[in-house]
Amino acid sequence: MGTGIAEVCARAELDVVVVELDVEALDRSRNSLEGSLERAAGRGKISQKEVGSALARVSFDTNFDALSDRQLIIEAAVESKVIKQEIFERLATVVADPDAVLASNTSSIPIVELAAATNGRGGRVLGLHFFNPVPVMSLVEVIPSLLTDPDATERAHRFATQQLGKESIEAPDRAGFTVNALLIPYLLSAIRMFEQGLASAEDIDHGMVKGCGHPMGPLALCDLIGLDTVLGVAETLYGEQREQLFAPPALLQRLVSAGLLGRKTGRGLYSYT
Ligand code: 3HC
Repeated sequence: MGTGIAEVCARAELDVVVVELDVEALDRSRNSLEGSLERAAGRGKISQKEVGSALARVSFDTNFDALSDRQLIIEAAVESKVIKQEIFERLATVVADPDAVLASNTSSIPIVELAAATNGRGGRVLGLHFFNPVPVMSLVEVIPSLLTDPDATERAHRFATQQLGKESIEAPDRAGFTVNALLIPYLLSAIRMFEQGLASAEDIDHGMVKGCGHPMGPLALCDLIGLDTVLGVAETLYGEQREQLFAPPALLQRLVSAGLLGRKTGRGLYSYT
């Protein structure tokens, strides 16, 4: 998702720095960005010149220090509280401007738990939650924590709406915020229905597309989001709420253990060959 966020920022004429921890991940991000922009040009959404200028606005680095002069950072690492807290701790020391906004694209982790890692900069920490695929989905959830300064929250709304041209809603700082707290129980129910052999994957998805007008069925959506992310969000929700509807089904856990994570690995609930 980080690359998708970088793409929408670059297409909005913002200067972007992408930081990944290793060179391979950085190369994947660069290739994915170039591919996505080329596809957008192929579909006539942007010109070839705009592809070039968007790419020119993005620099890639493996060093956190490259973020030192930024005014807004959007962390989009894997859905692990420990990893995200380590990142926020480092951001608090690296980013020079004390007014810079430190945002997380977390799908579910309470923002205040990330703010706590920033050694007194919690007023500038908030959630900026994008949706997959980022260039297509028009919503951004803005999630202030109990510590967030109101002007940082306003800045985040302005960034999402005026600079990126998306729509924003303000969501509560509880696990899953607004959208995932509603979406994830639905996705988990679909996995359980399939796991229990009550209906085929195709019929579950076809039913929700044709019966409810959803753009894609829940099982295909799980594969699009990534099963590791779905599991991570379910675990966070279950950890906070202890409600059975958030408990991850065994099939989801087995698929993730097997490394079958959905579209990104070529197989998840469906095969993509
Ligand atoms: N990047 C950029 N553009 C993309 C894209 C991508 N990865 N995938 C599709 N698109 C664009 C296409 O270019 C096309 O644009 P056009 O109509 O202007 O030419 C448009 O989207 C439709 O694409 P397709 O015709 O190829 O395919 P579909 O009509 O089947 O749409 C879809 C694909 C946009 C993924 C649609 O099925 C959809 O909206 N699905 C639901 C997605 C959803 O619910 N996302 C939220 C997930 S939850 C989440 O992200 C939160 C997280 O925390 C877990």
